[in-house]
Amino acid sequence: MQKVIAIDGPSGAGKSTISKMLAERIGFQFLDTGALYRTAALYLIEKGLDENSSDNDISSALEEIQIKFIGDEICIVNKSDLKNGILGFSLCRDISQEIRTPKIGHYASVFSARKPVRDFLLNAQRDAAISNNIVAEGRDMTTVVFPFAWKKFYLDASEIERANRRYKQLEAKGIKISIQEAIDDIKERDHRDMSRDIAPLRRTEDAIYIDSTNLSPQEIIDLIFKVIKNN
Ligand code: DC
Repeated sequence: MQKVIAIDGPSGAGKSTISKMLAERIGFQFLDTGALYRTAALYLIEKGLDENSSDNDISSALEEIQIKFIGDEICIVNKSDLKNGILGFSLCRDISQEIRTPKIGHYASVFSARKPVRDFLLNAQRDAAISNNIVAEGRDMTTVVFPFAWKKFYLDASEIERANRRYKQLEAKGIKISIQEAIDDIKERDHRDMSRDIAPLRRTEDAIYIDSTNLSPQEIIDLIFKVIKNN
């Protein structure tokens, strides 16, 4: 395994922005594990599955696909379209934009509590660190996926600040919700992501805690960079 910088934290704490900027600055690959959960959720919804579906149905559906990152894009490959395991570019369905909606965020959180979904994505995440140094962000990077990561961080922010960020992000994409809806969504997601039985989001003692409420992205990067440099 190459060097892994593992960053966990709740929804809206700024993990994606920070991880992407940090990866660019230090020449590591960026692994957005939320995008993997969102993609799995999108596919499961399309297959007509929901929170009441059986583990068997969920795993059979996921067996049909592979999820791939191609540059900044994420796409779904139907295994039945692979010829001798070789992927033609046109067969990779780019769903990078589709997964960034509140509905898919909700279902990503719902389905991520299910064992077949977590099992399906575990190796894909670990494989990303086989030949590249990575900055990996999500909910269980420091605890389950990369417990022996080179550096671990827990990025947090107040609930209201995270709701504000969520509101602005969606507004920028032309998706209108009220601030109250953003707060309710953040609360619901926190509860689900922190209280599930498998791989819940939690702060470990060896992860450096950063409260980003009053910090700019650059200030957070500088903080992280200092830790990395000093070790
Ligand atoms: O970071 P995000 O909002 O894109 O993640 C969407 C959901 O996916 C999140 O609410 C919980 C789930 N998730 C997870 O369970 N484990 C991860 N490592 C990443 C995301």
